[in-house]
Amino acid sequence: GGFCLLFLSVACSRKEADYTIAVSQCSEDDWRAQMNKEILREALFYPGVNIEVYQAHDDNVRQIQDIESLIKKKVDLLIVAPNEAEAITPVIEKVYDAGIPVILVDRKINSEKYTAYVGADNYEIGRRAGEYIADRLKGKGRVIEIAGLKGSTPAVERHRGMVEALKAAPDVQVIASVEAGWFQQKAGEVMDSLLDVYPQVDLVFAQNDRMAIGAYEKARQKKRAGQIAFVGVDAVTDGVESVAGGRLDATFIYPTGGDKVMQVAMAILRGEPYQRENILSTALVNRANARVMQMQMKHILTLDQKIELLNR
Ligand code: AHR
Repeated sequence: GGFCLLFLSVACSRKEADYTIAVSQCSEDDWRAQMNKEILREALFYPGVNIEVYQAHDDNVRQIQDIESLIKKKVDLLIVAPNEAEAITPVIEKVYDAGIPVILVDRKINSEKYTAYVGADNYEIGRRAGEYIADRLKGKGRVIEIAGLKGSTPAVERHRGMVEALKAAPDVQVIASVEAGWFQQKAGEVMDSLLDVYPQVDLVFAQNDRMAIGAYEKARQKKRAGQIAFVGVDAVTDGVESVAGGRLDATFIYPTGGDKVMQVAMAILRGEPYQRENILSTALVNRANARVMQMQMKHILTLDQKIELLNR
């Protein structure tokens, strides 16, 4: 018994080498909060690993400063969601050249100098959204696109994917594509003037749920929401809630993948094999499955909810 106990306590206290992993997030929102939570939870499996999260408030200069100081600090590995590709590329190359492994998440840079990427295929998300839009409008209608921050790669890729898919539906017209920086309030502002300019709008594709909600709210204030379907991307908390409540027509899962990010990080640090490109999948969330998704997000289901799920 005594031996066993001793053995157990030694086994349990065996620690991973002490590593400091820094996470540089470009922004702060529910989607990133979820990713950070997943990273921290997964890190619990690796005692001795210390996670530091930095957040750049959508500011390139701030993110560059954060990363410069992490190079000086000689962190063991950097996980980074680059705010805008062009602006952030040089400092990430600097990290890479300093011999610090760097994992890009969600957004990309204009260089091959990174160790691994974990995130969705944003072109594919745009393409799926385009197909959905064409289908939803039965091949004919007027669409407004509200795009994310111009210099961030998901904004570019989602747009391209959507345009590509809509080639198959020539009567679906994208009458305007306007940038709102990924922000809810900004999306409300652009929607305000777009509604004045265009008397007939059938669908708004906002490149994330926050902007979709901002656009919806403005349309509702102007008594136009009833004629417009709003489609977003992300499918965390508010987005799923809005689809379940019928305010948004649909959204697409933009996978946060924090657990995967940590697994790749640890493989790199331990010198184990890992994949350089880790593409996470997406799925449509609409009225039919939003409630199920909400319950899954809460993890704990009551008996009534389980029965409701089973009886669908
Ligand atoms: O980089 C993509 C976007 O960043 C997400 O879809 C958005 O909500 C987040 O702020």
